[in-house]
Amino acid sequence: MRTQIGIVGAGPAGMFLALLLRSLGIECVVIEQRDREYVEGRVRAGVLEQNTVELMRYLGVGERVAREGLVHRGTNLAIDGKLFHVDLAALTGGKTVTVYGQQEVMRDLYDDASERDIAIVWNAEGVSLSGIESERPTIDFRHHDAAKRIDCDYIVGCDGFHGVCRKTIPSALLKVFERVYAFGWLGILAEVPPADPELIYANHERGFALASMRSTMRSRYYIQCAQDEDPAQWPDERFWDELCLRLGPEIGAKVTRGPSFEKSVAPLRSFVSEPMRWGRLFLAGDATHIVPPTGAKGVNLAVADVRILGAAFAQYYKQGSSQGIDNYSRRALERVWNAERFSWWFTSITHRFPDMDAFARRLQIAELNYIQGSRAAQQVLAENYVGLPLEVDFR
Ligand code: FAD
Ligand code: DHB
Repeated sequence: MRTQIGIVGAGPAGMFLALLLRSLGIECVVIEQRDREYVEGRVRAGVLEQNTVELMRYLGVGERVAREGLVHRGTNLAIDGKLFHVDLAALTGGKTVTVYGQQEVMRDLYDDASERDIAIVWNAEGVSLSGIESERPTIDFRHHDAAKRIDCDYIVGCDGFHGVCRKTIPSALLKVFERVYAFGWLGILAEVPPADPELIYANHERGFALASMRSTMRSRYYIQCAQDEDPAQWPDERFWDELCLRLGPEIGAKVTRGPSFEKSVAPLRSFVSEPMRWGRLFLAGDATHIVPPTGAKGVNLAVADVRILGAAFAQYYKQGSSQGIDNYSRRALERVWNAERFSWWFTSITHRFPDMDAFARRLQIAELNYIQGSRAAQQVLAENYVGLPLEVDFR
């Protein structure tokens, strides 16, 4: 089998890229190791930048997010139970974020892909790449016990942090930057109305807490926990008690409790591997960078990679210029490092660090108080949170 672009991984990066290439008239095939139910069932991100929502609209999959997504014009921070509001829209010339779960995004992308006959190979086993430095790179895998091979012009590794594509690149050619945090987030979903119409990022002596949501009837809450925390040690009542302590009595009184139907721990990590290209292999999304979730940049960053790469492929196939392709890694990495910096900073001012002494905590509180009192400081937070501008041209 032969295609122009072989995509490994049908997560957000792979599927946004597949739909974008399709809209540009470029052929692609997506190879995924799991089935649709599994990928769609993973509870992950919840906040979309306007850039991401606009790409969904451009691709013709923006109808449900426009109808069901919750547009947030602001967000809240809390210091030991005292809340303050950051008016994102007023600080950024009207920009907003949209609360719409990654599961919903994936459903929209898969439904559209199946309507448009975009080829996705589910349950592909033993995916491997070869000929990356030749003119004809190939993807090999097994499917229903038969060996398959796809010849491509280019391959894009969208296979997440644990995928095979990054590992195909000789390690001597990669520079890896990493910070592993000594804590994780314990998250729950519950069919209860949210404590507040907007999100609350809370710094508390006992650790970070986040009040988020999926709809006006479904809440998503997180508390900072140990990296290897066992969710089984957290029956619902214990979780609700700890959450309310960290949010403080005023907000805690607005928390509606109910049975959780999802409870899991996500470790926190910052990671970048450079460059994002080797020969005819490009990497996008979590395959090449990870941010800690504070600030909700993970999915949005994957989508930004895809926009830059999609425009580069359009330039290559429509105008015969490889300039965009050659600049992809440099251009994407500029944005990646901005998001890395922001996510690290937002984590650092909101979480309890194991080695934190009283001095360090006072500095955190001073920084949060400063943000509360300074329009300039709020603007820095707001413009990063809603997503920095990214101009791309798909012609
Ligand atoms: P992925 O979503 O990881 O998709 C990669 C795909 O490749 C998967 O479908 C995988 O099955 C497939 N794959 C892997 N290996 C192979 C292979 N060898 N062959 C073929 N296919 C393969 N971000 C936020 O912004 N907010 C959050 O709250 C948040 N929570 C998260 C919680 C968890 C537990 C995790 C892991 C991530 C979370 N993220 C969050 C990050 C966000 O979900 C990711 O940034 C986003 O999913 C990245 O998309 P991706 O397509 O690059 O990678
Ligand atoms: C959610 C996750 C985040 O990482 C974040 O910063 C905000 C919201 C969420 O899952 O709802």
